[in-house]
Amino acid sequence: MESARSNVGVQHRAFVPQKDQNFSLGAATGIPVLLGRAAHFPNIAYRCVQPSDLEILQEIHEALFPIKYELEFFMSVVHGRGVVAWAAVDTGRSDGRGEQLVGFITARMIKASEAEFQGEDILGYDVLKADRNLLYILTLGVVKPYRNFGIASALVWQVIEYARRISSCRAVYLHVIAYNRAAINFYQKNTFRCLRRLSKFYHINGHHYDAYLYIYYVNGGRPPCSALDFAAAAGSFLKNACSSLLAMLYRLRNENRSKLMGP
Ligand SMILES: CC(C)(COP(=O)(O)OP(=O)(O)OC[C@H]1O[C@@H](n2cnc3c(N)ncnc32)[C@H](O)[C@@H]1OP(=O)(O)O)[C@@H](O)C(=O)NCCC(=O)NCCS
Repeated sequence: MESARSNVGVQHRAFVPQKDQNFSLGAATGIPVLLGRAAHFPNIAYRCVQPSDLEILQEIHEALFPIKYELEFFMSVVHGRGVVAWAAVDTGRSDGRGEQLVGFITARMIKASEAEFQGEDILGYDVLKADRNLLYILTLGVVKPYRNFGIASALVWQVIEYARRISSCRAVYLHVIAYNRAAINFYQKNTFRCLRRLSKFYHINGHHYDAYLYIYYVNGGRPPCSALDFAAAAGSFLKNACSSLLAMLYRLRNENRSKLMGP
C-alpha cells in the first residue's frame, strides 16, 4: 500500500500497457499462480484496468484501505497515466449483469535514483547507474468472497512478468503496514523478501504505524552490501582516483614545461 504522503501526484508517464490488452494467466505466461484453488471461480479473467472501472475501483479502495486515495490517483489508474493496472473480473455472473471487478493491482515505474525511499537502500551500488528503474506496487486488493483463491497471486505475478520484460527494471517493491498479517503472509508466500522495517512510515488518522518494505528482484537486481557491491564500489573508486592522479600529473608536467620555456 502506498504511503499517504505519496498517493497523489502520479507523474511518471512511461511504461503504460496497451489498454486493449486482454490476457489470461497460467501456463501460457509461465506465471506460477495458485490456479488449483482458483478453480472455485472458473470464470475469473484478467485484463488491464479501463476507464469504465473508475467507480468500482474507488469503492473497493475505500472499503479495503485505511488511506483515502484522491480522484487524481484513480484517473491516473484508469487512463494509464504513469500507472499500470490490471483487474481480475468474474465473468460468470448469473444475474446477467456482465463482468464484476473483484481484484486489482496498480503500480508505477520510478527511476531508482528518484525512489521516495532511497534507491541505494534497495539496489546498493547499482542505483548509481542512470537507467535503473523500480516498479512500485501502489495498491493490491481482492474483495472478500474471492480471497484465498490465488487471485492476488495471479495479479502480482503479472506485475512481476511485466517488470521482467523491461530490461532496465531491477525490482518490484512495496510497503505494507506492519499490522497487516494477511498481506505480509501473502508477500512472503509469493517469495518477496522483507528488506527492512520503516519506523512510523504511515500516518493515518493521527496515529503512526511502521511499515515493511518488501521486494522482488528481477533482471539481475540485488540487495545492497553484497560482496559484488563492495568490489564494484572499490573498483570505481580506484578508477576515479587513478584518473584524477593522472590528470594532476599531466597538468603539473605542462605547468613545469611552460615555466622552463618562459613567457
Ligand atoms: C492480501 C490480499 C490481497 C490477498 O489476496 P488473496 O487473493 O486472498 O491472496 P492469494 O489467494 O493469492 O494468496 C493467499 C495467501 O495469502 C496469505 N493470506 C491471505 N489471507 C490471509 C489471512 N487472512 N491470514 C493470513 N494469511 C493470509 C496466505 O499466505 C495465503 O496462502 P495460504 O492460505 O496458503 O497460507 C487480500 O487479503 C486483500 O485484498 N486484503 C486487503 C487489502 C490489502 O491488505 N492489500 C495489501 C496491501 S499491501
